[in-house]
Amino acid sequence: MIYILGIDTSCDETSAAVCLENRLLSNVIVSSVEKHAKWGGVVPAFAKQSHMENIDFVVEKALSEAGIKSTALSAIAVTYGPGLAIALEVGISKAKELARIQHIPLIGVNHMAGHIYSNFANLDGNENIEDSIEFPLMALLISGGHTELILMEKHLDFRKVGYTLDDSVGEAFDKVGNMLGWKYPGGPEIERNASQGDSEKYNFPIAMTKSDELWFSYSGLKTAVLRVIESVGKPMNLSTSNVGMSPQGFVPTISKKVTYELSKAQKSNIAASFQKAAIGQLVFKTRQALERYPVKSLLVGGGVVNNQKVIVAFTQLAKEFDIQFFYPKSRILLTDNAGMIAVCGRYMFQYGINMSEDIDSLDRVPRLSL
Ligand code: KG4
Ligand code: ZN
Repeated sequence: MIYILGIDTSCDETSAAVCLENRLLSNVIVSSVEKHAKWGGVVPAFAKQSHMENIDFVVEKALSEAGIKSTALSAIAVTYGPGLAIALEVGISKAKELARIQHIPLIGVNHMAGHIYSNFANLDGNENIEDSIEFPLMALLISGGHTELILMEKHLDFRKVGYTLDDSVGEAFDKVGNMLGWKYPGGPEIERNASQGDSEKYNFPIAMTKSDELWFSYSGLKTAVLRVIESVGKPMNLSTSNVGMSPQGFVPTISKKVTYELSKAQKSNIAASFQKAAIGQLVFKTRQALERYPVKSLLVGGGVVNNQKVIVAFTQLAKEFDIQFFYPKSRILLTDNAGMIAVCGRYMFQYGINMSEDIDSLDRVPRLSL
């Protein structure tokens, strides 16, 4: 019986989970999203502080909800990248401490592999999920930091065949949400408001349709939205904005910008039209990928999968290709969580991949790629 404790502190969620084989026995998450909301993005220092405050608590709770003691664990799986350096460090240090005490292997998990493996988590109602997902498979990862197409011939064999040249789709949702005056993260706000809007109102372009490369691009769409806001909105006085970007993520800065007043209907129409173009590009590029690489299953993972229009669009696309479509059935598995890290760690344990003999040697890799 393989019990794995998973830990993830890559961004703004502090999470620990326990799985028994593929079955998730617990998946505890403490989010610091509210602390970042008014800054328009995740502030690394706030995230670190919150991880330090919560890490012991989530680990204890994950073990007690699973009904096991740490002595029963076979290994500890921890996210070592990609993510915010000072945030990753908190989880890695806790994982090392536990692995040392129990004399068990420490497994370094790629957070994006975790998003794929969120589909393999065994929950009530999908007990045979492991046997149902057939290889080869194509996984579309759509989160706040990534937009990637990953081809897998077998377990833990990742081949990145598509990626974004600039912003990720989640980032586009967040930035457009910010332009429309909604708090971070913008995705849920856009989906909610889009449901009352007319998606045909503005004809936002779908980028990269002329290219055979499996590349995504969201910066043009973001600019197109800005142009519409400037043309239909009423210019307001200069206002202050507190969003700034650094290589480590968002940092609080104060800058002056012109803002535009929009009616509720205008905002909803922009949100709906943006959402249609954003998802349209995901579908267009995934269709190209499926034409090029015949697979048996299509998987999606990452926060943007929370969007119901995404589920509808990809259910339809999988039908078109007569292949199976999988997405994590529980919301908790869509946002950042340690359950997916534990389940991925379980496969890595089974196949003996990336298990550190020397516990001290595992280090964070903020820009880790699949
Ligand atoms: O996977 P995730 O929780 O964190 C990262 O690893 O980045 O993804 C967060 C992203 C954010 O950009 C957020 O705006 C987006 O997922 N998101 C959504 C929705 N819910 C969350 N995007 C579109 N529609 C949603 N309903
Ligand atoms: Zn994530």
